[in-house]
Amino acid sequence: MKRLDAWTYLGRYTILKTDKTSCIYLNEHISINNYVSLFAEDHADIIFGKRVYIGDYTTIRASRAKVEIGSNTMLAQGVQLISTNHAFSNRHQLIHEQDIDTLKIGIKIGNDCWLGAGSIVLPGVTIGDGAVIGAHAVVTKNIPEYAIAVGNPAKVIKFRN
Ligand SMILES: CC(C)(COP(=O)(O)OP(=O)(O)OC[C@H]1O[C@@H](n2cnc3c(N)ncnc32)[C@H](O)[C@@H]1OP(=O)(O)O)[C@@H](O)C(=O)NCCC(=O)NCCS
Repeated sequence: MKRLDAWTYLGRYTILKTDKTSCIYLNEHISINNYVSLFAEDHADIIFGKRVYIGDYTTIRASRAKVEIGSNTMLAQGVQLISTNHAFSNRHQLIHEQDIDTLKIGIKIGNDCWLGAGSIVLPGVTIGDGAVIGAHAVVTKNIPEYAIAVGNPAKVIKFRN
């Protein structure tokens, strides 16, 4: 375990990778556990609030659009946050030559959220403050504040009291 300051640490085999156009903004009391991959590239930042917890094997990929995680939010093990889709509408052009889908970009997760193990958040999604995402949910649309959402695609089943 490498300590960055008294309350922030990075686990083993964790990778933080950026290019010259992008940054990963850590914050106070951040816990990033083992085998986590954070990639920020092509004018896309990853921005942490305070006291964020990131579980083992989580991957956050910000490319061309940023990923923001609010304060006191916890991502369990194996969560995936993906900030952009490839564009693919033209069948006569290779997908890797088609730029990105500019309609659905970026991810914003509010304060005091909990994302369950193996959940996946797709590009363009905002998760409101206090929301809970069930294990293995695939979040394709915005989730309101204090909602509990489960399944694939994730649906709101109730709200916190
Ligand atoms: C989302 C979650 C918090 C909800 O917990 P809860 O409020 O106690 O919900 P319940 O167990 O009462 O389930 C409510 C309904 O949602 C369903 N459900 C719960 N979690 C689900 C999930 N992850 N995926 C799909 N359906 C789920 C239940 O089967 C139940 O359905 P029913 O009403 O048809 O019987 C919990 O189920 C969960 O997924 N926790 C994540 C655990 C985790 O990843 N921990 C990591 C360590 S930090």
